[in-house]
Amino acid sequence: MPTTAPTTGGRATLAARALTKRYDGRTALAGISFELEQGELAAIIGPNGAGKTTLLSILAGVLQPSAGELSHSIEQIGWVPQQPALYSKLSVAENLRLFAHLEKLAEPEAAVERMLAQTGLGERADEEVGKLSGGNQQRVNIAIGLLREPVAVLLDEPSASLDPRQRERLWDFIGGLAERGTTVVFSTHNVAEVERYADRVLVLVDGELLFTGTPRELAQTVGGEEGDLEAAFVRFLHARGH
Ligand SMILES: Nc1ncnc2c1ncn2[C@@H]1O[C@H](COP(=O)(O)OP(=O)(O)OP(=O)(O)O)[C@@H](O)[C@H]1O
Ligand SMILES: [Mg+2]
Repeated sequence: MPTTAPTTGGRATLAARALTKRYDGRTALAGISFELEQGELAAIIGPNGAGKTTLLSILAGVLQPSAGELSHSIEQIGWVPQQPALYSKLSVAENLRLFAHLEKLAEPEAAVERMLAQTGLGERADEEVGKLSGGNQQRVNIAIGLLREPVAVLLDEPSASLDPRQRERLWDFIGGLAERGTTVVFSTHNVAEVERYADRVLVLVDGELLFTGTPRELAQTVGGEEGDLEAAFVRFLHARGH
């Protein structure tokens, strides 16, 4: 069943201005600003500890910034954390139902049915989540993030534990969401999938946003050839002293 992102009149954007996060005096995000258009598929890449999870968590409203502003209210955002907060002893449908109630959705049962259909989990509805494959658990995790039909969905390393076939299915699904107007932001260490699927790439290093543009523009910045964004990315980091 197709879902449509609630329209906000015009091109909804997801924007952040001068986001800063300090942990005990250590700066994890140093004044990040960007703006995304409706239906854009944006990737955040950067070395371990760059601040990707911190940034996504702040955009999702589960972490408070030390300073800065967000364009959106957190009710408009779907959040898919890297570690799924699923109840392994409950079934797929029970998990969805529980989260639909926790999120105080007006029609929880309709939302559950919609997500079962949309993610292809209908046949698994009564199976215990703990007994599903990693790929199907990830689908439940994503379904929970989409329960409230958010304007934008944020996913932290969504493909990290998936095999190539499951990754392909994931990106088909996420691409479909973006085509129907949901803004998608994801983090990854898989630069090849950024090249294949992302409209825009944000490079975050040591809490600073060093680049925003298309994957092709990132490659062009370091005079790279098309088709090897990973090499271009490494050269980009090197050129910036990392
Ligand atoms: N709760 C916390 N308390 C203190 N420091 C933290 C906390 N969470 C994250 N940090 C620090 O903030 C920085 C950014 O961490 P973050 O997890 O956002 O990076 P990341 O880009 O997601 O890394 P990875 O690629 O390993 O997932 C790191 O230096 C990390 O140690
Ligand atoms: Mg992370």
